[in-house]
Formats: sequence, structure tokens, C-alpha cells
Amino acid sequence: MDNSNRAHATQNVHDTASLAIHASDVSVVLGQTRVLHEMNFNVPHGQSIAVLGANGSGKSTLMRALLGILPLSSGKVELMGVNVSHRRDVPWQRIGYVPQRVSAASRVPSTALEVVRSGLLGPGRYLFADRGRRATEAALEALDAVGLADRAHDHVQVFSGGQAQRVLIARALVKSPELLFLDEPLAGIDRASRENLASTLAHLRECGLTMVTILHDMGELTSLVERAVVVAEGHIAFDGTPEESPATVPEEHLHLHESSSRTPHHAPRLTTELS
Ligand SMILES: Nc1ncnc2c1ncn2[C@@H]1O[C@H](COP(=O)(O)OP(=O)(O)OP(=O)(O)O)[C@@H](O)[C@H]1O
Ligand SMILES: [Mg+2]
Repeated sequence: MDNSNRAHATQNVHDTASLAIHASDVSVVLGQTRVLHEMNFNVPHGQSIAVLGANGSGKSTLMRALLGILPLSSGKVELMGVNVSHRRDVPWQRIGYVPQRVSAASRVPSTALEVVRSGLLGPGRYLFADRGRRATEAALEALDAVGLADRAHDHVQVFSGGQAQRVLIARALVKSPELLFLDEPLAGIDRASRENLASTLAHLRECGLTMVTILHDMGELTSLVERAVVVAEGHIAFDGTPEESPATVPEEHLHLHESSSRTPHHAPRLTTELS
């Protein structure tokens, strides 16, 4: 890491309350494998960063560690100044997450509207936040932002993979988050929907949204990305401006871990690990 990249990584390290995300020396072990190695990672409020890297490099693991979904083997993560290990103290109502994979485990038939409204609930708190006229209006607005307002009353079980992904994006947007984590939001989504999403996110960015987006190709979101972080084999290999970043991940980082295998995409399941 050169000096300018190190400056990004350690920015405001003495004033972590002013950061949307503060991760220090984060390591994660899954099974027998150390997937993340002492990562340092700070994101000031209002910044939009892209996390790039080869398949299996640790991007989703990093995001899940930042959200406190995966336990850390060492290190610390703070979101909005609160240690994520103190889950009940984290202001989840200000934080949205769109996971990479949607799969078909939901046994209870739910309409798109119900799924999106459920985004207003938090873990163990904010009971009934998804009820009432205002909740419905917010959910319809979020569905409109992903181009699915006309499908609000359809059961998500019959949605295509791309439509289900858009419902999950709406579910994250419904609470007007200040901090939004998106794991490959453009994957499997048609061009009109990608453009729709980009303009919705651009509007939210103008209102100060902090964004962390895992991408393989910045595509429609290029103009929304201020900073690029490249993950390679569980390390931060680059942290700087998108212009300076390798346009594609460097060749030497493109091999998969021996043990890695890409889990196939499943049919839609419309729950997230934060719910
Ligand atoms: N539960 C687990 N047990 C052991 N290893 C795991 C587990 N989950 C993920 N891994 C490994 O951790 C590594 C990083 O996985 P991760 O899903 O974070 O990659 P990624 O960068 O998001 O890749 P992709 O671009 O394919 O989404 C991979 O080698 C993967 O096989
Ligand atoms: Mg991933």
C-alpha cells in the first residue's frame, strides 16, 4: 500500500465517531480458512465506495463482517460510531443491506409490498414499524424506485431472480438509510432497472447517503463511486480513486482460492440476515 492509500485507510483514525464505518485489524476465519487478514478500513459519512476484486477474494465476507453478521476472529468494527458486536445498540434503522444472493427459502407467501414493508422492522426492535398507511406509502415509493410498483400485490415467490433482487433493493431503500451496503446490486438486473437504480441512488447520494457497493463492473454506477477498494485474497490490495484503480483486477489476483467454490444462485428467498 503506498502512502496515499494508507492515508485513506487510516483517515480520521483518532476520531472514529465521525466515520460511518470504522474497521480496524479485521480478521475472519471461516471453517479452517482465514478469509480476511487484518483489514483496516474507514469510510467517512457521505462517501461512496466500490469494493472490487476477483471471485472468492473476500468481498462479501468483508461486507458481512462489517455488518456484524459474521463473527470476527480479531479486530473491531464500528458502524455509526457503535461497535457492531453490541447489536442492540447499532442504529439499524439507518442502515440498509442488499445481500448478494437471494434464495427460495421463504415458505410463507408474501407480496412484494409486505416484503418491502418488512424492511422497516429491525432486529428485535421497532415492532410494528411496518404497519400503517405511512409504511405502505414508503414501501410503494421504494417499489416504484426499482420499477415494480405495479407488482406490489403479487407474491414474490413467482418473481424472477432479477425481480426478486429488485424487491430486496426496495426493502433496503424503504427506510431511507443513511448507510447502504449493496453486494453486487447490478448482477442479473436488466439495463432499464440498472439505470433506474442508478438514478435512485444518485438522488439519495445528493441527500448524503454513504454507500458501500460490491461490484465487478461499475457500469451504470460509475459516476456514483468516489473511491475504489480492491480486495485480493483477503487483503486490501488497493484503496484510492477509481481513476487510479486498476480498471480490471490485476491478473495476479484473478485466481481463485484452491478451496473456493462458487455457490450457485438459487431462486428467490426474500429474507436477509439482518432481519
Ligand atoms: N462458510 C465458509 N467456510 C469456509 N470458507 C468459506 C465460507 N464462506 C466463504 N468461504 C470462502 O471465503 C472466500 C471468500 O468468499 P466471499 O464470498 O467473501 O468472496 P467474494 O469476493 O464475495 O466472491 P464473489 O465475487 O464470487 O462473490 C472464498 O474462498 C470462499 O470459498
Ligand atoms: Mg461475493
